[in-house]
Amino acid sequence: MTKTVHILNGPNLNLLGQRQPEIYGHETLADVETACAAVAAERGLAVKLLQSNWEGQIVDWIHAARQEAAGIIINPGALTHTSVAVLDALNAFEGPVLEVHVSNVHRRESFRQHSYVSLRAEGVIAGFGVEGYALAMRRMATLVGA
Ligand code: DQA
Repeated sequence: MTKTVHILNGPNLNLLGQRQPEIYGHETLADVETACAAVAAERGLAVKLLQSNWEGQIVDWIHAARQEAAGIIINPGALTHTSVAVLDALNAFEGPVLEVHVSNVHRRESFRQHSYVSLRAEGVIAGFGVEGYALAMRRMATLVGA
């Protein structure tokens, strides 16, 4: 059976390509989906990309991934730095988790330099722009044995 990777995106990432392009670039989440679908096709995987501005929705999607996904790629947006709930949900997920940030969070405000999600993630990509998602897909394919 084809394995599915869930790509979860937190608050404000629906505005990718529109908000602060000097930090986040001009590409959109639709571009991210196209790039990740191409990697998925290459590696015989399926991909499902979701975005919500609501913490509880992200938690619910992580719970759903327990049954539906072989791995999770997550850009939690600001929830990265605040959400024990997202961390707890990820800890209840058994497959690999990769964390992606479009910007280099380590070069920004000090509050962005702590990530709850990094306590769970097998790997982190930050500052590679939206290309980071496709790179994470390649790594995820290896981690799930695709
Ligand atoms: C982000 C970095 C976070 O600090 C910020 O709150 C975001 C986006 C990134 O992709 O660079 O919303 O996760």
